[in-house]
Amino acid sequence: MSQQVQGVIAPGKNQPVRVETIVVPDPGPGEAVVKIQACGVCHTDLHYKQGGINDDFPFLLGHEASGIVESVGEGVTDVAPGDFVILNWRAVCGSCRACLRGRPQYCFSTHNAEQKMTLLDGTELSPALGIGAFAEKTLVAAGQCTKVDPAVSPAVAGLLGCGVMAGIGAAINTGNVGRGDSVAVIGCGGVGDAAIVGARLAGAARIIAVDIDDRKLATAKSMGATHTVNSRTQDAVETIRGLTGGNGADVVIEAVGHPETYKQAFYARDLAGTVVLVGVPTPDMTLELPLLDVFGRGGALKSSWYGDCLPSRDFPMLIDLHQQGRIDLAAFVTETIALDEVEKAFERMHEGDVLRSVVEF
Ligand SMILES: NC(=O)c1ccc[n+]([C@@H]2O[C@H](COP(=O)([O-])OP(=O)(O)OC[C@H]3O[C@@H](n4cnc5c(N)ncnc54)[C@H](O)[C@@H]3O)[C@@H](O)[C@H]2O)c1
Ligand SMILES: [Zn+2]
Ligand SMILES: [Zn+2]
Repeated sequence: MSQQVQGVIAPGKNQPVRVETIVVPDPGPGEAVVKIQACGVCHTDLHYKQGGINDDFPFLLGHEASGIVESVGEGVTDVAPGDFVILNWRAVCGSCRACLRGRPQYCFSTHNAEQKMTLLDGTELSPALGIGAFAEKTLVAAGQCTKVDPAVSPAVAGLLGCGVMAGIGAAINTGNVGRGDSVAVIGCGGVGDAAIVGARLAGAARIIAVDIDDRKLATAKSMGATHTVNSRTQDAVETIRGLTGGNGADVVIEAVGHPETYKQAFYARDLAGTVVLVGVPTPDMTLELPLLDVFGRGGALKSSWYGDCLPSRDFPMLIDLHQQGRIDLAAFVTETIALDEVEKAFERMHEGDVLRSVVEF
């Protein structure tokens, strides 16, 4: 058995996305079908459309979502129909070498649904990050469903499914920001602003936001940045150093995904400081740095996948902090849109006046 729903696909490289009828199979063993309530538009969806992730077109886009479990397959015990869940793109396997060593946040063998969703003519779809949630319903591995308090708004909860978790986690998990630290965040979209929220939550004393768009800097300030730098008009490295006693920041978070901004991050950090790359580069990008500088400056150069989060640990905790008013996740939702407005949301992402457009169903 299967059912037909509406979903947004990216048919081919750089082609406009469009709404199509999607065939969703009933959940098999270990799988779940989730009725989507909200799904945010992340820059990674645009990367998929542009062919920047891989060539497995057509993609079923959308991966920053929350919804209600509709049905589960054989052997599923952690979630049940009716549960309110956030979808995650790293369902830990429990048996790979990382999981066995007690580091499930680095799981090397994360799970997705085994069955394929298709178009009406049988063409198999590649769901973005194994989710595909710009659709009324989607099929995932049950481990991709993390139960959270249903009192929170679906649009807010869904954000934790990707960008906001990636940003907060880049600061608190990967960057290990501590009380009194200085932090610089380069690129203040949804991910960068979430890194600012995370840095503030962790007790950073100085949080420097860097972007090329003044509107983004104004929002970054409202999220907790103590200083802002427009790197179109100011030298990012020199200004960050100037704001940190001439030394550079303890932790610099790169949330653009570009060699130029990575270099800024590399040189804007203090000796023995940490660079966290959370922006996603495209396959054509390369980086050249004097090896002596890599050695001589010490510290750590880290990448942050999904903020090194553990969904079962981090999603309910962050929802709780939001409900208590200690972080404001609702501030990330700039607008709610309909399913057929995703292409327009990509354009608005480029124009820079949106943090998150969220599709509501
Ligand atoms: N690592 C992960 O797990 C993960 C998860 C989600 C998203 N991402 C990636 O994070 C990045 C940011 O995502 P987003 O949704 O916030 O995107 P976004 O488009 O909303 O934000 C990007 C921001 O970077 C700014 N920017 C662009 N060029 C710049 C430059 N040269 N210097 C300074 N700022 C610049 C833009 O003005 C914008 O504010 C993307 O690469 C995305 O794919 C990574
Ligand atoms: Zn594992
Ligand atoms: Zn994303």
